[in-house]
Amino acid sequence: MLGILIALLTCLLMLHFLRQHWSHRSYPPGPLRLPIIGSIWRIGVKVHKDTLIELAKQYGSISMLWLGQMPIVVLSGYEAVKEGLINHSEDFAERLSTPFLKAVGQEWGIAFSNGHTWKQQRRFGITTMRKLGLGKKGMEPQIEEEAHQLVEAFALEKGQPFDPAMPISNSIANVICALAFGQRFPVEDKEFIKLIEISDHLTKFLNSSSHILYELFPWIVKHHPGPYKKAISKVEAMLTFARNEINKHKEHHAVHEPLDFIDFYLLQMNKSKNDPNSTFNEENLSYCIFDFFVAGTETTALTLRWALLLMANHPDIQEKVHKEIEDVLGSSQEFHYQDQKKLPYTKAVIHEIMRFKYISLFGFPRQCSQVVNMRGFLIPKGTVIIADLRSALLDPKQWETPEEFNPNHFLDKGGNFVEREAFLPFGAGTRVCLGEQMARVELFIFFANLLRAFTFQLPEGVKELNTDPIVGGSVAPRPYKLCAVPRSSSS
Ligand code: HEM
Ligand SMILES: *[C@@H]1O[C@H](CO)[C@@H](O)[C@H](O)[C@H]1NC(C)=O
Ligand SMILES: *[C@@H]1O[C@H](CO)[C@@H](O)[C@H](O)[C@H]1NC(C)=O
Ligand SMILES: *[C@@H]1O[C@H](CO)[C@@H](O)[C@H](O)[C@H]1NC(C)=O
Ligand SMILES: *[C@@H]1O[C@H](CO)[C@@H](O)[C@H](O)[C@H]1NC(C)=O
Ligand SMILES: *[C@@H]1O[C@H](CO)[C@@H](O)[C@H](O)[C@H]1NC(C)=O
Repeated sequence: MLGILIALLTCLLMLHFLRQHWSHRSYPPGPLRLPIIGSIWRIGVKVHKDTLIELAKQYGSISMLWLGQMPIVVLSGYEAVKEGLINHSEDFAERLSTPFLKAVGQEWGIAFSNGHTWKQQRRFGITTMRKLGLGKKGMEPQIEEEAHQLVEAFALEKGQPFDPAMPISNSIANVICALAFGQRFPVEDKEFIKLIEISDHLTKFLNSSSHILYELFPWIVKHHPGPYKKAISKVEAMLTFARNEINKHKEHHAVHEPLDFIDFYLLQMNKSKNDPNSTFNEENLSYCIFDFFVAGTETTALTLRWALLLMANHPDIQEKVHKEIEDVLGSSQEFHYQDQKKLPYTKAVIHEIMRFKYISLFGFPRQCSQVVNMRGFLIPKGTVIIADLRSALLDPKQWETPEEFNPNHFLDKGGNFVEREAFLPFGAGTRVCLGEQMARVELFIFFANLLRAFTFQLPEGVKELNTDPIVGGSVAPRPYKLCAVPRSSSS
C-alpha cells in the first residue's frame, strides 16, 4: 500500500516538474526551481557581494531566479542593464510592491509609488530639484556650509585615530534637512538625534531576517509582531517629523520666495487646488520627504566613507588630488561646484570611488508591467527586475582593470576627464535617481573640502584598512579609524 502511494507521489512530482519545465521553456535560464523554496537554494542563505555576478557567469547576462513563488530576472553586465533600463524603460518602470512597502504606504511619494501619483510627483520633483539643485541661488551654499562643519568636526580630533562614520552621517542628513526644510540642525538637537536614530533603525530593519521573513510570509507578523511594529512606528515617527515641519512652513507662508522643497510643494498645492486629478497634498508631501531621507542619506554617506578609506589606503592617489587642488585653487578661500571642471583628476577619483566601491547590491528593484520579450526570452508580467548596476560598473568588457582602484578609467592620455557610458551608479531610464545632480554636487564639495583641509592617514601600526565590505542590501565598509592630519594653512 505504502509502496503504491510513494510511486504515485513520485509520478505526480515528476509530472509537475515536466509541466513546469515545459511552461518555463521560453523563460531566461536559471537554477532549477524546486517546490516551495524555488531556486534560491542556488544562492544559499548568505548573500555575498558577488552573488549576482556569479549567477551571470553561469547563466548569462539575463537569468531567472525563483524566490518561492516570486520570479526574479537579473540583468547583468553593461549591455543587458542598459537594454533593460533604456529600451524597456516603460515595461520596467514600475516599482516592486512588497508586503512591507504596502504596509508603509506605497501609493504615496516618489520612490516607491507607481502610476499617476508617481508620474505627477516625479515630474514635480525633477523640476523642483533643478530649481534647488545648482548654483548660488540653490542649495550649493548650504552644502558648502555643511562641508565646512564637517571639516571642523574632523579638526576636533586633532589628527588622532577616529571613526568618521557618525559625523559623515550627521552632515549628509543635514543636507537633506536643508533640501526639505530649508534649515540645518545642530548635531546636539534632540529632534535631529531622533531623526538619525530613526534612519539607522530603518536601515538595520531592512537588512534583517525579520524583514525578509515578513516579505515572504506576511502572516508571520501575527505571531511575531515585535520588530515589524517597531519598524512601522519608526516610519510613522519620520512622517510626523515631516508633518511638523510642513505645519511650521504653513504658518510662515508667502512671506518669502520659495527656498526649499516644502515651499515649492505648498505653492504647487495651491496652484492645483481645483484640479481633481491632483495628487499634491500634505500627506503625499510628507512621503516625498521620507523618500529623500531613505534614498539620499545612506547612499551618499556610504560613498563618502568609502572615499576616505580608499584615500587612506592609496596615499599616492591622495597626494595627486592634493596637488591638483593646491595648483588650481591656490589660496583662494572659496570654490564651488563649477570648479570641478578645472579639477579633472579629482573628478576622476570621485567617479572611480563610486565605480569601484558601489554602495548598493540590488539597487531599487523594479517590476515588469506586462509580458516582455527580451533577447528572445519571455519575461512574465509581474516579474521582479533587478538591473544589476554593480555588474555594469565592474564589467570586464567595459573597464580596463575592473577589479582595481584606478582613476585612469576616467582620464584620457592628456589627463582630461572622460565620461564613460558604463558609469551608471544612478541607474538610467524613467526611474533614474532623482537626486543625481544633488549627489554629484554633494560628493564633490565634501570630498574637495575634506582633502583640502586634511591628509588622511592610517593609524600607527596599521598597514591597510580592510576593503572587504559588509554586505546586506547595501555594500558598506567595515567600521574603521583613520587620522585626519591638518594640512598647513598655506594650502
Ligand atoms: C551617491 C548617492 C546616490 C546614489 C548612488 C543613488 C542611486 C540611486 C539609484 C540607483 C536609484 C534607482 C534608479 C532606478 O530605479 O533605476 C535611485 C533612485 C532615487 N534616488 Fe538616488 N542615489 C543617490 C543619492 C540620492 C540623493 C542625494 C537623493 C535625494 C535627495 C536621491 C533621491 C532618489 C529618489 C527620490 C529616487 C527614486 C526615483 C524614482 O523612483 O522615480 N538619491 N538613486
Ligand atoms: C535599443 O535602443 C537603441 C536606441 O534606440 C537601438 O539602437 C538598439 O538597437 C536597441 N537595442 C535593442 C536590442 O533593441
Ligand atoms: C494661494 O493663491 C492665491 C492666489 O492665487 C493667493 O492669494 C494665496 O495667498 C495663496 N495661498 C497660499 C497658502 O499660498
Ligand atoms: C483627469 O484625468 C482624466 C482621466 O485621466 C482626464 O480625462 C481629465 O481630462 C483629467 N482632468 C484634468 C483637469 O486634468
Ligand atoms: C496621494 O496621492 C494619491 C493620488 O491622488 C492619492 O490616491 C492619495 O490619496 C494621496 N495621499 C493622500 C494621503 O492623500
Ligand atoms: C546585513 O545582514 C547580514 C546578515 O544578518 C549581516 O551579516 C550584515 O552585517 C548586515 N549588513 C549591514 C550593512 O548591516
